[in-house]
Amino acid sequence: MTDLFSVPLRAVIFDMDGVLTDTIDYHYRTWQRLFDEEGIPFDREKNEELRGLSRLDSLNAVLGDRELPDAKKQEFLDRKNQYFHEFIEQMDASALLPGIAELLPEIEAAGLPMAVASASQNVQKVCTQLGIADKFQKIASVYDVPNSKPAPDVFLHAAKLIDTEPQACLAIEDGASGIEAALAAGMRVLGLGDPQVVGRAHIVMDGLGGVTWADLRAQFETAPAIASSSGL
Ligand code: BG6
Ligand code: MG
Repeated sequence: MTDLFSVPLRAVIFDMDGVLTDTIDYHYRTWQRLFDEEGIPFDREKNEELRGLSRLDSLNAVLGDRELPDAKKQEFLDRKNQYFHEFIEQMDASALLPGIAELLPEIEAAGLPMAVASASQNVQKVCTQLGIADKFQKIASVYDVPNSKPAPDVFLHAAKLIDTEPQACLAIEDGASGIEAALAAGMRVLGLGDPQVVGRAHIVMDGLGGVTWADLRAQFETAPAIASSSGL
């Protein structure tokens, strides 16, 4: 870990949902609508467990032992996505999470490439709606790789696309599965949100509001202070 923190950062890889924009409520409302229609129990607490999981993994997590034919599952996934699109069609820059509108240009001005590594099939569309798609050299989703988060595939793929070794990447995540994915990729990891969920990240913050690139660089390139402040 000390070695990892001594490597200068050369790129930043962002998760999208919950990091760049808060779509958790849209996902909740669209899943709730689907499961209400199907008489399958679901609530906000269950929705929290789905952060970072692909749409199919989310459906399987809710279905549990219920057996469904693949065609039926696909119909559920398509219907959920149709409902989700009703929300994302309305999205614009006002849906950026606090700090993002300031942080992306700062990182760009510092000359570091940025990428997105998301579990969402809608990642390109949402980044375009938010007006930030052109800030990223590459936008990757788990649909580009064999294994979804918590496997490291999408982070490794994003790093390769921007030609940066994982050890020189900072990954920013809000989901437990995404934190595991970025750690397994060998990156430094900033977790945003509840420490009970993202506590395995090297550093945990509430969010990126008021956080500058200089702050992040100072913290993630200085091992001993990090090791003690994150409890690792
Ligand atoms: C992740 C979200 O980014 O994307 C999950 O955290 C969501 O909640 C997943 O299920 C899949 O999104 P989409 O847009 O492909 O349905
Ligand atoms: Mg997320």
